[in-house]
Amino acid sequence: MSSKIFTVKYVDFTLRLGYLPYFMSIPDSQSSVTVARITALRAELARHDVLYYLQANPEITDFQYDQLRRELNTLLGGLPGAVAAGGETPGDDRAEGFAKVQHRAPMLSLDNVYHPGEFAAFITRLQKLLPPGEPLDFVVEPKIDGLAVSLTYEHGRLTRAVTRGNGAVGDDITRNVGTIASLPSALEGDAPERIEIRGEIYMTNAEFLRINAEREAAGLPLYANPRNLAAGTVKLLNPAETAVRKLEIVLYGFGFCEPADAFASLSAFHAALVRWKLPAVEFFKKASGADAARDAIEQLDRLRRDFTYPTDGAVVKLDSLPAQALAGATSKFPHWAIAYKFAPEQAGTRLRAITLQVGRTGAITPVAELEPVELAGTTVSRATLHNADEIARKDIREGDFVVVEKAGEIIPQVVRVVAEKRDAGIAPFDFAARLTELGLDAVRPEGEVVWRLKTPTREQQIRRLAHFASKQCLDIENFGQAVAGALVEAGLANRPCDLYGVSKNQLLGLDKFADKSADNLLSALEASKRRELWRLIHALGIPNVGMQTAKDLARHFKVLDALAAAGYGDFRRRLVGKKGQELKDEESIVNGVGVVVAQSIITWFSDPEHRDLVEKLRTAGLNFSGEGMGSAAGALAGKTFVLTGTLSALGREEAREKIEAAGGRVSGSVSAKTDYVVAGEEAGSKLTKAVELGVPVLDEAGLLALLAGEGEGKGERREEAERRKPVQTELF
Ligand code: IVH
Repeated sequence: MSSKIFTVKYVDFTLRLGYLPYFMSIPDSQSSVTVARITALRAELARHDVLYYLQANPEITDFQYDQLRRELNTLLGGLPGAVAAGGETPGDDRAEGFAKVQHRAPMLSLDNVYHPGEFAAFITRLQKLLPPGEPLDFVVEPKIDGLAVSLTYEHGRLTRAVTRGNGAVGDDITRNVGTIASLPSALEGDAPERIEIRGEIYMTNAEFLRINAEREAAGLPLYANPRNLAAGTVKLLNPAETAVRKLEIVLYGFGFCEPADAFASLSAFHAALVRWKLPAVEFFKKASGADAARDAIEQLDRLRRDFTYPTDGAVVKLDSLPAQALAGATSKFPHWAIAYKFAPEQAGTRLRAITLQVGRTGAITPVAELEPVELAGTTVSRATLHNADEIARKDIREGDFVVVEKAGEIIPQVVRVVAEKRDAGIAPFDFAARLTELGLDAVRPEGEVVWRLKTPTREQQIRRLAHFASKQCLDIENFGQAVAGALVEAGLANRPCDLYGVSKNQLLGLDKFADKSADNLLSALEASKRRELWRLIHALGIPNVGMQTAKDLARHFKVLDALAAAGYGDFRRRLVGKKGQELKDEESIVNGVGVVVAQSIITWFSDPEHRDLVEKLRTAGLNFSGEGMGSAAGALAGKTFVLTGTLSALGREEAREKIEAAGGRVSGSVSAKTDYVVAGEEAGSKLTKAVELGVPVLDEAGLLALLAGEGEGKGERREEAERRKPVQTELF
């Protein structure tokens, strides 16, 4: 079967997404259609923001995202390529578990253009903003597709690294940035007293491919592109995990600087970056006037594939800082800079077949087998289809003509089907039927997108045991992947309950164990029987039940049997209206347990094999009861805390851990039942509420004093706290 191969540079997504191109949707503020569209776009963008920023797992390409955002901005009254005030900028990367830090100078975003005409409009606008005769001296550099970061250097030493966040306040990622080997923690030579240096954290294509290959082998879902993997890595709560994945950084600008006149131009600042031996952008071109800037953009487009970082455009900026000040900025974008985005390269080809790949843990991933096509310098013959839902959503069928694109220039993806070219009689792809045809006995667990083989593979068994024994579960010392592997290989343990039946002699029969190490493992197993209930709940490996949810469940149900017997109504309740009628809405009874988690728990406990596992663990003597949040006789036993504001010394997660370990409980909202509110910097409405209700307010030092058992008397109240110097922490 031969096929015509076609290459397209721009694809009109507007039709596929079912909305009008921006030039046809002239805003009509009275129109309910427009209002509905704005609402729908906001919801859609918010969903994609969560997928992109928080889950590092986007469903659409950046190009498609930009198109949606542009449409919204247009409807809100902006002009394409020149987003007026009131337009919306991309989302917020802040995540739970990180201290929040305010940038001294806000981190602005960049407006995008895609075509020469839009670039010309940027130049015209800039000329109008500058005094007549002011030269348009630009610098042109790559737009790095990474995660924006602001590094504070004080007296030449790196003291803090913060993500962009919402532009004003970001997440403190100092510890994770400390793992980037190529970033010096001290500047060489003269440095300003204090400077916020701005740049992007990224991952090289090679590292991205390495990690994805590992994930593929382990049957885990793949990351879509290096940017998302870098973002996910920066947001790992454990810096030791971050260190295992190699991150890089590249710097291009600065925010706050003391003294303020340290640099008169970006080119002077760039030269300083080089002097300080910091990683600066490798393409940095001065360009006088719009034509020279356009030439530099083209030159960059030709060279960008050789850069180590993923580049999706060029950034054109006025070089002179006084000229930048004259041009000014909206609250979101500077008028003196623009991102010229390169259109993603796409190609059309025929999808020969959809094959199903089985990963080592039994996860089944569909793959598009394509007629080979040239794309961004390589020949592409396979593309990921992610999962069954993705195939259904895009209605991808075998034999279809499809448009493929390289996301972040790396993994080819099927963007869409060219429906007009579909041959009559091509049937929709039936994922379940194909599994049966291939003799794959698989299930799709409730609430999951992935189909998995029913019988666990050896790798799955090893992972399951290692999870059970890990620090955040039953914390069995010296029990890692290697020990789990040895036990599975020898047939001594297939399921966690088997661990408790292993004898010393059996262990001594394995290469891994000698007399002492066998004794150590046996006593570690004994100790694990007395762990807190939440650890056991987490160890069971119920899908969607992470450590925090396990703690909330333990606190609520108090005994494992109550959790195992719980029905939907024990997790969520229907809201009842004033007149007793049932409302459509529901609320959680257990903190953090939404519909998906509730269903997942019920499904898990309804499986006979899981029930059998629970019974065997009971027989082995594991602890099945107690709130298990630290000792009941702890210094904070029975006390409820609410944490608010930025806790700069401890950080939220650590504060929570310490409180729980001392028998206390952390709640999300302040009520008369709250015993203490711990307020950090910039505490907001929760602090106000505490004061209103007369709930004692502590600062971090006060909390530490309570934890140390010094009693409330030593805990400082807010007023005193404010007069204190902040607690200094050693960062490096
Ligand atoms: S300048 C006020 N230069 O792209 C100027 N930003 O889409 C704003 N980015 O928020 C930053 N490469 O995170 C600048 N060479 C570069 C960049 C760059 C990537 C990021 C930055 C910004 C985002 C806007």
